[in-house]
Amino acid sequence: MPPRHFLTLTDLTSDELKQILLRATELKKIHRERTQYQPLKNRVMAMIFEKSSTRTRVSFEAGMAQFGGHALFLSPRDTQLGRGEPIEDSARVISSMVDVVMIRTFEHEKVTKFAEYSSVPVINALTDDYHPCQLLADMQTYLEHRGSIEGKKVVWVGDGNNMCNSYINAAHLLNFELTVACPKGYEPASKILEQHQDRVTVTQDIKKAATDADLIVTDVFASMGQEEEQEKRLQDFQGYQVTQHIMSLAKSDALFMHCLPAHRGEEVAADVIDAKDSVVWDEAENRLHAQKALLEFLLCECEE
Ligand code: CP
Ligand code: NVA
Repeated sequence: MPPRHFLTLTDLTSDELKQILLRATELKKIHRERTQYQPLKNRVMAMIFEKSSTRTRVSFEAGMAQFGGHALFLSPRDTQLGRGEPIEDSARVISSMVDVVMIRTFEHEKVTKFAEYSSVPVINALTDDYHPCQLLADMQTYLEHRGSIEGKKVVWVGDGNNMCNSYINAAHLLNFELTVACPKGYEPASKILEQHQDRVTVTQDIKKAATDADLIVTDVFASMGQEEEQEKRLQDFQGYQVTQHIMSLAKSDALFMHCLPAHRGEEVAADVIDAKDSVVWDEAENRLHAQKALLEFLLCECEE
């Protein structure tokens, strides 16, 4: 049987996603009780990072160790990947020696090509187009704080980027209404929007978007790889900061999320990210638990 990959959220069915989210909360409890649970004893994950990371690296590496397995950090600087060895060859070789591969890179096509030639599951740990692992943690966090997200109003403020695209996929799988408030020219990719027109509204009006929201989410103006656009983006995104005023337009129990790292004073005001409605620290911690649930799903359930 070919391996199950996790390249975008839509590699899961809606039921599988909900099952992983519930399991993530159970694994968090098991971890906090310090109960030893090692379903991946002697199993190895290769982690390929072509972009920087704090949360993704720490959560996958810690998660594999807690599960009794091991994680290998591979960067293009010290592997043949950085010297132009074809993806197809790298995928065949690496997957012949490990049980699962995690990749953070630029072009999404790189992870799809790696997956095509890999004999083990491949996990997308962020590409220019998607960041599905973050959505597992975000959706787990909403569920833990407020219950089911079905039918809720979620507002994405800022760039129609990899995180925004993954929110669109989550809206489809978990049945919530997503409003994207972004400056002209920074809308999410039209091919993704067209597929999910029933769930997603795009507007330039951040105040209208935030009104009655259950969850407001934002991300940096310039993502990794867009550093040279930082100055232009600071201009173009003026008025798209999540401020206390924007939060006050949302429902009284609305939550604030940000995948981090954050730039206080740019996309979010310091008094929003550090306020009590902000769940960014739980969101970051849940990367660990949600990805452990994903690993268990891919390596234990799907390979049974
Ligand atoms: N949110 C997130 O993916 O963080 P890192 O870039 O630190 O991994
Ligand atoms: N959109 C951001 C997310 C970082 C976790 C980036 O791609 O840099």
